[in-house]
Amino acid sequence: MIATSGIQPVSRRRLLTGGAVAAGGTLAGAAAITAARSDTPGGRTVEAVPVAQVGTAVEPFHGPRQSGVATEPQAHASFVALSLRSEVDRAALRRMLRLLSDDAARLTQGRPALADTEPELGLLPARLTVTFGFGPDLYRAAGRPDRRPESVTELPPLRIDRLQPRWSGGDLLLQVCADDPLTVAHAQRVLVKDSRPFTTVRWVQQGFRRAAGSEPGRTQRNLFGQLDGTANPKPGGPLDNAVWVPDGPDWLRDSTTLVVRRISMNLETWDLLGRVDRELATGRRLDTGAPLTGTAEHDEPDFTALGPDGLTVIPDFSHLTRAHVTDDRLKILRRPYNYDGTPAADGTADSGLIFASFQADIGKQFLPIQRRLAERDLLNEWTTPIGSAVFAIPGRPGSPSRRHGSRCGSCRS
Ligand code: HEM
Repeated sequence: MIATSGIQPVSRRRLLTGGAVAAGGTLAGAAAITAARSDTPGGRTVEAVPVAQVGTAVEPFHGPRQSGVATEPQAHASFVALSLRSEVDRAALRRMLRLLSDDAARLTQGRPALADTEPELGLLPARLTVTFGFGPDLYRAAGRPDRRPESVTELPPLRIDRLQPRWSGGDLLLQVCADDPLTVAHAQRVLVKDSRPFTTVRWVQQGFRRAAGSEPGRTQRNLFGQLDGTANPKPGGPLDNAVWVPDGPDWLRDSTTLVVRRISMNLETWDLLGRVDRELATGRRLDTGAPLTGTAEHDEPDFTALGPDGLTVIPDFSHLTRAHVTDDRLKILRRPYNYDGTPAADGTADSGLIFASFQADIGKQFLPIQRRLAERDLLNEWTTPIGSAVFAIPGRPGSPSRRHGSRCGSCRS
């Protein structure tokens, strides 16, 4: 439990009463979300896809930047990391990427893949996106180590890490997201089947958010019950500046990078915490997501405000204080998914976050934040990174400068 300035953890009874109020609020909120649009407190307007059209909704495949990054997060995701077979050379890599790009181009638009063995499953894209990521070693296999973006290299060891090989590394990442889990499963099946002659499966991580249409435009909640994503850079200029490489050679322009961390969340010990302590650890309120110095989710936190005890209202070691970044160009775009595995025989949860972070440069943006958190973040008490992988997300083919047909700008001479 956190040592707080004389604040006692709330009783289980009070906690339950608070929970009931929160649940009531959520119900009221849900009733208000029948409109086709939702205006978020952050000024972001998200068009809600009517429930009847969730299956047929389409995200673009062609364009200068890959989908699945700035795309409004879909409800379901599968992160598939593949290892290249040792015999795969540049030509084989190009063949594979051309094949997988073709699969993705069709499936994302609601058309079955070529020789699709279950073509009916390819007809409802449900905003399917397939985002391709290149791990550090793929560049060696492609014979172009010079084209690896400098920051795409394994993260340095962190003292909080308890990394397991079965959730770490990977040469090629397929981030498959859609609002329908059956669509995700089918796309994953097609892509894995077609990559089989070239790769082996290293790990797969499946995650979820709220169902499509249940809370359009609202910040998602993680399994600690926190609103998670509030301070993400806003779509438009701030997000673009944080995420996309704006210039440079053709193979680098409109690319980004992705860090995937599997972070186990200890729900057993979190459950023992009072609500006040939970909010102090994060620096935000559980119901509204407001900073402890504000009343609404998107209020600016005041890190200098003092409480009656003379201590800062938002604790110096809260997650919010340690993670906070003001310069848009140094922010990261968090696009996490919850995971919830099979509980142990004694009921202990296997839950956490597939923490996916996009940024133009891992070394300049992600790492400084991660280092501050690893050094001193109250949330570390209940969270443990158990997997880690980094990928370059190249710009996409089909844009005027990349009419090549495969995703591998790095394979081209
Ligand atoms: C299981 C692990 C984690 C949990 C439960 C968690 C939860 C949260 C919550 C509840 C917030 C406040 C609301 C928001 O702005 O989204 C937040 C903010 C944030 N988190 Fe995390 N987080 C986790 C891991 C990480 C990691 C690994 C990083 C980066 C290395 C990170 C970076 C950030 C950033 C940059 C913010 C916004 C801070 C600001 O500027 O206000 N978080 N996180």
